[in-house]
Amino acid sequence: MKKLIVAASCALALMTGTAQAKDLRIAFDIPYEPFEYRDDSGELTGFEVELASAVCEKLETNCEFVIQAWDGMIPGLLARKFDLIMSSMSITAERAERVLFSEPYYITPGGWFGPESFSTDVTDMDAMKDKTVGVQRGTTMDTYVTENMGGVVNIKRYTTAEDMVLDLEGQRLDVVFVDYPVGEQTVLSKDGYKEVGEPVKLGEGVGVAMRKRDADLAKKVNAALRTLKEDGTYDAIMKKYFNY
Ligand code: ARG
Repeated sequence: MKKLIVAASCALALMTGTAQAKDLRIAFDIPYEPFEYRDDSGELTGFEVELASAVCEKLETNCEFVIQAWDGMIPGLLARKFDLIMSSMSITAERAERVLFSEPYYITPGGWFGPESFSTDVTDMDAMKDKTVGVQRGTTMDTYVTENMGGVVNIKRYTTAEDMVLDLEGQRLDVVFVDYPVGEQTVLSKDGYKEVGEPVKLGEGVGVAMRKRDADLAKKVNAALRTLKEDGTYDAIMKKYFNY
């Protein structure tokens, strides 16, 4: 009898398909410093990694961190490879059709970064003609450049932000368009680079993405985020990873 009940509740969990309260799996695309990356000893770290740990503590659940390439993020979530995305994912209407977002926990515009010698106005399409712009594939920066500069500039799309920055350093790109803090910490931190245009607001902040059917989980995540903001944990984590 007992066996039957266990089997029945498992079947129910499978049928309802909701994430279990235990063992939440959280996905990150790395490296994306300062949000998620490995430190010198290979340890996964960053603003969102610490925030994710703090959320798990508040939810009193075990968490497992999963590394997932950016272009497979939403498909991976929907295929139940993990339960939450905390990977600097900007809240957009298009994504909100497929996933459920928490309240925003961070706001980042897209920033333009290039070598000191770059002197073109990035909003002047005549001047930008034939310049090569790097973006991470499938990001809000990719969408922006595709919609606003497609057919004018050469767009080079990268699977990882890291490869994009390497190509900027190798002079295979004129500029990169990337989440501002990432450009600040991975490009501006090196000699010979500068910000080359006004930051652009993209999306409605960054949120935790979940499956639509996990509305209960979303409520808990929102409550946890609110508590972390109130009790000072959020600010302490911010201070560690951002220069402001
Ligand atoms: N904020 C941008 C977006 O939502 C890019 C995020 C990329 N995140 C990452 N961990 N690589 O499209």
